[in-house]
Amino acid sequence: MDTHEIQLAVDDLYARYVALTDGEVATYIPELGKADPDELGIAIVSADGRTFAAGDRDRPFTIQSISKPFTFGMAVEELGHERVSRHVGVEPSGDAFNAIELQNHTNRPFNPMVNSGAITVTALLHARYGEDTFDYILSRLSAAAGRHLEIDEAVYESERRTGHRNRAIAHLLLNFGMVHDAAEAALDVYFRQCSILVTCRDLATMGATLANMGRHPGTGESVFNLAAVRSMLAIMFTCGMYDYSGEWAYRVGVPAKSGVAGGLMAVVNRQLGIATYSPRLDARGNSRRGIEVCVELASRFGLHTFDCFNEGSAYLSALL
Ligand code: DON
Repeated sequence: MDTHEIQLAVDDLYARYVALTDGEVATYIPELGKADPDELGIAIVSADGRTFAAGDRDRPFTIQSISKPFTFGMAVEELGHERVSRHVGVEPSGDAFNAIELQNHTNRPFNPMVNSGAITVTALLHARYGEDTFDYILSRLSAAAGRHLEIDEAVYESERRTGHRNRAIAHLLLNFGMVHDAAEAALDVYFRQCSILVTCRDLATMGATLANMGRHPGTGESVFNLAAVRSMLAIMFTCGMYDYSGEWAYRVGVPAKSGVAGGLMAVVNRQLGIATYSPRLDARGNSRRGIEVCVELASRFGLHTFDCFNEGSAYLSALL
């Protein structure tokens, strides 16, 4: 039995939060409604590759919006911040992830974590990689996870068939010249990237790759350059939890991203990737139990970026 303090904490959090049944499984993509609402997985991977996990850590689920910081990082790497910022801003919107709105004057989406911004980012990648775009995204996400990832075809089909709102957003962006003519093709890539299957352990590893300055802790592969990691973590810190981002920064204080299938990935810079999977969501589309588990982990281990002028971080370093 692993008696490491982090493993004991993860076991304890699992045992207590598995009983929390608040929230609803997302059903607006019909296929997501089939998830088992009771499942809960927690995984933590350190920047040097140690894993602590409990519960449904190996249950596959679709990555959904947690793909967004990664595609943003790819666009920044490919095109540089200057060019990307002509198409998408970096301001929290304070509105729902699927809001149909653009910034006044510039007509840009507020940020790359809301659907309009993420579709724009995928369109930028599509303008560069054409029909290879999805394979490119899949290979980069796979490198971050350290294993070959696959797509859930049923979720992709479900999302494509019912994604009228995203289609409306893509056409609004086309109207304002924020995406190129192949908006429909880019949208298709967006639906596919949201349908990539990951486990909690994968997401924690992907987070650890970011914590480890873009280098996968196990394979040693350099997946993202430093500028991309900085951009990804900054945007996750300010916009990663949608209209809960301010509250999250206040209570948990680390960059994070949630997805409507119930995944949540958080990054403790230079130290940890954290992931939870629990499909019951709150009204904003964030995993209900995921938030509680992260709030408690942050408080137990002093993870908040501004905790006691980082004595918390020293405590964690001593543990690791
Ligand atoms: O665009 C959508 O509706 C989904 N494919 C992704 C949204 C998502 O995960 C938002 N998360 N909270």
